[in-house]
Amino acid sequence: MVVSEGYEQHYAPLTSQTVSATLDAAGVRKHINVLDVCTGPGMLAAAVVKREASVLGLDFCKQMIGIAMRNVPKASFLVGDAQSLPFDDGSFDAVVCGYGVIHVAEPQKALSEMRRVLKTGGRVSISVWERPTPMNGVGLLFASIKKHGDLAVPLPDGPDSFQFSQKKKMVGALEETGFKEVTAKIIKQEWELNDARDLEAAIMKGGVRARGLLEAQNRSARIAIANAIELGLKQYFMSDGVYRVPMPAIIGAGTK
Ligand SMILES: C[S@@+](CC[C@H](N)C(=O)[O-])C[C@H]1O[C@@H](n2cnc3c(N)ncnc32)[C@H](O)[C@@H]1O
Repeated sequence: MVVSEGYEQHYAPLTSQTVSATLDAAGVRKHINVLDVCTGPGMLAAAVVKREASVLGLDFCKQMIGIAMRNVPKASFLVGDAQSLPFDDGSFDAVVCGYGVIHVAEPQKALSEMRRVLKTGGRVSISVWERPTPMNGVGLLFASIKKHGDLAVPLPDGPDSFQFSQKKKMVGALEETGFKEVTAKIIKQEWELNDARDLEAAIMKGGVRARGLLEAQNRSARIAIANAIELGLKQYFMSDGVYRVPMPAIIGAGTK
């Protein structure tokens, strides 16, 4: 399975939970035109269409654009780079970006580009994962690797995935980009898993940096990490037979 399909299968049910709050924060409403940066399988784009606004989804991965076109035939999609948006200044009423800036090589460049293509008075809204804590699934993963493996294994160059993952940091980054009326809020959401092994499986099939981190561990560490994750997940096992793992997001928004 390619990562784009794995992402759609394992992460989309989770990241879909952030969609309406992201659109609300960007003021998405009837008849406006919206850019969805790092659209992935197009969940945000689909919700924009439902609000009767027009939307263009952009992603640098051709396979993702193929999936998004299949999922949201009423939206337009384009292969392109978030760090160099192929649009004139002031082209959009609103710009949204779900869990995208954390994957872009130069996130600050992407934020500046989002601001450039917004009309004056238009609003941007971006989502990221909350930083790892003992109360969330990301924290369980990182604590398990820290205890039984090595968090400092060499990985391909990439941005710090958690650089916007606190409200204060999110507000600072958006204000530094020049946005006004900046807000940041935490959104509670849950990863629903049928089996305790599904968390690691989901990361291996649809993740990028977390998958790299797991792949770089040696065999015995991998086994110990998987066991620690399984054990840690017990606290999230619910009476209806599923695991509900807290995976909060932070949504930051601002006006040009
Ligand atoms: C984690 S997915 C987010 C998908 C979707 N927006 C969501 O809310 O679930 C991140 C997406 O960003 C895309 N991406 C990463 N770097 C990019 C860049 N420089 N320009 C455009 N897209 C990029 C990836 O191909 C991937 O589809």
